[in-house]
Amino acid sequence: MRILGIETSCDETSVALVVDGRQVTKELTASSQEQHFKTLGIVPEVAARAQVEYIIPLLDELVGKEGLEFDAIAVTYGPGLIGSLLVGVETAKTLAWSWNKPLFRVNHLLAHFYASFLGKKVSKVPGFPCLFLLVSGGHTDLVVFFDHGRYQYLGGTRDDAAGEAFDKAARLLGLGYPGGPVISQRAEQFSGNLFSTPLPRPLINSKDYDFSFSGLKTALFQKVHEFDTLSPTFVSSLAWEFQNAVIDCLLAKSNEALREFNIKSFVVGGGVSANHLLREKCAESAAKLGVDLFLPEFKYCGDNAAMVSSTAYYIRDLVNPLDLQVEVGLSL
Ligand code: KG4
Ligand code: ZN
Repeated sequence: MRILGIETSCDETSVALVVDGRQVTKELTASSQEQHFKTLGIVPEVAARAQVEYIIPLLDELVGKEGLEFDAIAVTYGPGLIGSLLVGVETAKTLAWSWNKPLFRVNHLLAHFYASFLGKKVSKVPGFPCLFLLVSGGHTDLVVFFDHGRYQYLGGTRDDAAGEAFDKAARLLGLGYPGGPVISQRAEQFSGNLFSTPLPRPLINSKDYDFSFSGLKTALFQKVHEFDTLSPTFVSSLAWEFQNAVIDCLLAKSNEALREFNIKSFVVGGGVSANHLLREKCAESAAKLGVDLFLPEFKYCGDNAAMVSSTAYYIRDLVNPLDLQVEVGLSL
C-alpha cells in the first residue's frame, strides 16, 4: 500500500511517499528554522507563512513529471501550531477530494512512534508490549503500546518538555537556537563538572512516571548568574551537566517502566532522540534488561512526513478515512 504523507505541525514542511509503512520511496522536507534563529525560538506566524510557500513546490517535486501512483493520503492534524497545521490539512483535503483518494488524519505524537519503523537499516519492527519514550520540543511522555492502537499513558512532563528544556538552557548559556544540538556539541568539548554542586534531577525518585524540567532550568539560571562572565570551558561544563541531568531523569523513569511492564521493545522518538548520549544510555539499558531497542535513523528523529505515512498504514484498519462529502471541516 502506497501512502502519500503530509506533515506541517511546526517549522517543517514535509511530503513523502511510503510503501507498506516501511519503505520510503521519496521524502522531501523544507524547514523555516533559519528564520527563527534571531528570535531564539519559533514564531508561529512566520512558520505558517513559510509553509504556504513551500507546500506546493514540494508536492510538485514529489509527484514529478511522470506522476505518482498512490492509494491514500495521510496528514498530521495535531498537536501543533494551528496556522501550520491548517496549511497541511487544507492541502491534504483538497488533494484527497480532487484525486478521489481516502484521507487519514494522523496524530503527530503517534507518528514519532512509527518513525522507528522506517528506513533500510530496520530489519524488524518492534514487538509488543513496547515502551515508547517520546522526547520532542513540545512533549515528553512515556506510553506502553500493547498493540497498534491499544496503548496506556504512563506519565509525562508536568511543565517543560525535554527539547524545550534544551532550547531554554541554550538560550541561558548564550548558545542560540535550537538548543539540543548545540548543548550536546558543547558537552562533548568538555566532559566534566567544574562547579561544586551538581544540578538537580527533578522527580527522579518520585513513584510515578512524570518528569519536570522547569526547576532544572531555574537551577541553571542561578548557576549562570553567580558569575559575571562565563568562560567557554565553563559554558561547556554547564552544558555537559545539564544534558546529563535531563538524560538521567529520562532513563530513570524509562528503566522503571521497562521492568514493571515486562517490555519486549523500547522505542524512542522525537527531536531529542537524535541526542548521542541519550541513544547510548538507552542502548545500555536495553542491553542490561534484554529488551530490543528501536531508535529512529537521524533523518527521522525530527518532524518528517514519512512517519505520518507509516502511521496511517499501521492504523488504517482501526480508523475510518474521512468522508469529505460529510466532513466539511476537519476538526483540529
Ligand atoms: O520532534 P521535533 O523535531 O519537533 C517537535 O515535534 O517538537 O523536536 C525538536 C526538539 C527541539 O527542542 C530541539 O532542541 C531538540 O528536538 N533536539 C535535540 C537534539 N536535536 C534536536 N535535543 C537534544 N539533543 C539533540 N541532539
Ligand atoms: Zn515532532
